[in-house]
Amino acid sequence: MKLWGGRFAKETDRRMEEFHSSIGFDQRLAAVDIRGSIAHARMLGKVGIITPAEAESLIQGLEGILADVEAGKIQFDPAAEDIHMNVEKILTERVGEVGKKLHTARSRNDQVALDFRLYTALKIEETDLALAELQRVLVELAEEHLTTLMPGYTHLQRAQPVTLAHHLLAYFEMFRRDRDRLADVAKRVKVSPLGSGAIAGTPFPIDRQMVAAELGLPGITRNSMDAVSDRDFALEFIFALAVIMMHLSRFCEELILWSSMEFRFVEIDDAYATGSSMMPQKKNPDAAELIRGKTGRVYGDLMGLLTVMKGLPLTYNKDMQEDKEALFDAVDTVLGCLAVFTPMLATATFNRDKLGSATREGFLNATDLADFLVTRGVPFREAHEVAGRAVRYAIEKGKTLEELTEEEYRQWTAADLAGLKEAVGMEVCLSRRQVPGGPAPDAVRQAILEAKNYLKINN
Ligand code: ARG
Repeated sequence: MKLWGGRFAKETDRRMEEFHSSIGFDQRLAAVDIRGSIAHARMLGKVGIITPAEAESLIQGLEGILADVEAGKIQFDPAAEDIHMNVEKILTERVGEVGKKLHTARSRNDQVALDFRLYTALKIEETDLALAELQRVLVELAEEHLTTLMPGYTHLQRAQPVTLAHHLLAYFEMFRRDRDRLADVAKRVKVSPLGSGAIAGTPFPIDRQMVAAELGLPGITRNSMDAVSDRDFALEFIFALAVIMMHLSRFCEELILWSSMEFRFVEIDDAYATGSSMMPQKKNPDAAELIRGKTGRVYGDLMGLLTVMKGLPLTYNKDMQEDKEALFDAVDTVLGCLAVFTPMLATATFNRDKLGSATREGFLNATDLADFLVTRGVPFREAHEVAGRAVRYAIEKGKTLEELTEEEYRQWTAADLAGLKEAVGMEVCLSRRQVPGGPAPDAVRQAILEAKNYLKINN
């Protein structure tokens, strides 16, 4: 017998039942669904919609179910459609007739909105913790590689000398923004829609604030129609997850490139690499490639749910049941990726010699040569031209800018060249870039201090 069976003269077709049942995936909401129901039951008792004794038996019944859910002892019934009706059905089996009072002043529409919000809030916290862990690894590596010289790239062409520390801390900033974004989304997630009913609230004298407070939600939704039809919070979370994947995939791309024979900047630990079934010499950065690949799934989840929501008339429509798998898949993917990415990074071996020697070829100090000429009174545009000629000449002669003699420089400029050699030394070029946010070890030391303080505050 269906919980909504009164109006129906016929049984649901078996195919229809299978088709619309969501228990296969929404059983993940069991714990939050029960917590929501406990808060609702307590409120019903408190305001006198049911008796205190009735509230007590509902609460005890629900707590029993929660314990059994957590112990994995409950088998859900696909015929009971979704998690909400499954829990109500089990409750009534356990506590008898009073179980049928739980749904007073509530609809599955406000109930599912509440459950999904509570679940999203928990997953935001989990994601945030995983990002904090990754940030800690980044800071440790940055401290280790404060002076590890490497080429910085634009257009994937060697550009200017930086350090591995500075490069890694760029990712620290991306993950800081990701965490900020999650915290911001959480503000809109953590409001209680309960009391919105199916669409138009309820005539019962319920206490919405009490339920919200009991569930640790700082506020309640303002409009019952919006509350049951809003899934912006889920979309925003998936968007934040998609950006995290974008960051991870850029990082992975670099690790993949860097672990190639062509670069040899890094070696991925054996524990996070795999071999080839045919080519005995191979060691492949599969974890990094998979994470890069899985980025597509999370983008897909975002586009999928955006498309589900597009054009839906107010308020609740069953289309919205499609919200769950998108969010579940996106958050599972991100947490799964972070669980592998963080230890993979922590155990990778960076090749200081290779990173450093890569700065010696490619004229990474050409800008510094121009800047030096500027200090000797040459206008920058002219200095740029001189340095460019010097580079072209040096390429022809197979020399570096440091190796050119004063006579050779005289071909292009009459400026005072005393101190030029020192000024274009790679370490000097680096150490001069002390501007806040720059790569000089002194500036990066400050950045590391700031990052550590941030991590202290943000756990
Ligand atoms: N399983 C449903 C969902 O996930 C719960 C809400 C159902 N409400 C309804 N009026 N059919 O969206």
